[in-house]
Amino acid sequence: MAEFDLVVRGGTVVTATDTMRADVGIRAGKVAALADNLPPEGRVIDAGGLLVLPGGVDTHCHIEQLEPNGTVHEDSFVTASASAFAGGTTSVICFASQFKGRPIGPTLDDYRRRARASMLDYALHQIITDPTDEVVEKELPAVVASGIRSFKVFMTYDPLHVDDRQMLRVLAAAKRLGAMVAVHCENYAAIGFMTEALLRAGLTAPKYHAWSRPPVVEREATYRAIALAELVDTPIQVFHVSCAEVAEEIARAQGRGLKVWGETCPQYLTLTAADMDRPGFEGAKFMCSPSPRDAAEHERMWGMIRRGVLDVISSDHCGYSYEGTSGKSQNGRDVPFRDIPNGIPGLAARLPIVFSEGVAKGRISVNAFVALTATNPARLYGLAGKGTIAIGADADLVLWDPARKVTLTNALMHHAIDYTPYEGMEVTGWPVLAIRRGEVVMRNGTVQAEPGSGRFLPRGPYALATPRGVVANGFDPAA
Ligand code: URP
Ligand code: ZN
Ligand code: ZN
Repeated sequence: MAEFDLVVRGGTVVTATDTMRADVGIRAGKVAALADNLPPEGRVIDAGGLLVLPGGVDTHCHIEQLEPNGTVHEDSFVTASASAFAGGTTSVICFASQFKGRPIGPTLDDYRRRARASMLDYALHQIITDPTDEVVEKELPAVVASGIRSFKVFMTYDPLHVDDRQMLRVLAAAKRLGAMVAVHCENYAAIGFMTEALLRAGLTAPKYHAWSRPPVVEREATYRAIALAELVDTPIQVFHVSCAEVAEEIARAQGRGLKVWGETCPQYLTLTAADMDRPGFEGAKFMCSPSPRDAAEHERMWGMIRRGVLDVISSDHCGYSYEGTSGKSQNGRDVPFRDIPNGIPGLAARLPIVFSEGVAKGRISVNAFVALTATNPARLYGLAGKGTIAIGADADLVLWDPARKVTLTNALMHHAIDYTPYEGMEVTGWPVLAIRRGEVVMRNGTVQAEPGSGRFLPRGPYALATPRGVVANGFDPAA
């Protein structure tokens, strides 16, 4: 009997720490051997001239997400899976909702049913908008026991945001249960105040989205989230950091030894607030929160990435088309920026953009690219067996052509959304083949996977979400 089901031969294997000429032998969906000149047993894929990378891990994706107004994000688990595979990503974490005044259970059950169609391997973050006694004491322990080991809180957005006291309740529950907390950091009241003033002055166009939430709004909330997390000694990841002055808050906390991590996204390395000022209503296509900033920020953000302050790059993929009644343009009506849905699609574009802007332009090493887009997110969120190439790890691989030049188009994104904010961008470096647990799921842009073939990734206890620090006066408010 052949020792391997599949051998990927002749490529250059890249991990977060090493670059080596090696063949990868795969058995039963796992990496079984890494060595030069493995015997060509089972199926053989020639990776000559290509990099062999771990499949991308995107820990911030809004897929088929249920919204409080009854709408569902446009990308289904099937279309989002196709988009992820096309861009070299093989695992994601997406979001189960909680609606204020309602329990978590039924909404989570509904979401789990939808997720069964996934072709991607996936884990879930549990959004918490209403941490009542019932939720904190009964539902969250059950949620964690079912393998969901991270919570997401929003400091802004109607009707999702939590106030500081609610956030402390979530942080304390996370500490008790050994879960990571991801935080959307923007000041709710400040955005409301600015929005009201702008609309009163007749400033309604998409570009005023950026004016309604300048960096100080994000910086203040980031400082506060970190302070609250410090109070109860709970690890947090600050989601979608948009600019260096916010990253500096994280750097200061990290310098003090706090358990704070920072994520950014390709949009904050490539798009600008000026994109929201494109003619007509086109600017809506670039609207996300926090807002993209000035072009000068991009280089500063790469500096923060090189310093390790920001150690994860996710997509924050968000499914709103431009056309359509619940789309960005709301069927061509000239809606004020306040009413345009926030968020942009980026699952497929994430790895090509980060490789091109980062590795091809000499800003980061190829090993740092793997760390930022696969290894670090997998470790931060306890995704065992994902995000690296090692004996015993899941055989999730991407064969990457580092020299291929591609002009991004919406068709290449394979998502259900009718546009990409990166239309026309030229990138260097492209995924030519993706393997998920030993199965080829994408070859030259053609996705070939069965709906339902993805697996839920239950997460058990893991070290990063198990704080053991000391709290003020030796009194633990989370106990
Ligand atoms: O604008 C954004 N980022 N929309 C998606 C939801 C979120 O805030 O992450
Ligand atoms: Zn957010
Ligand atoms: Zn998001």
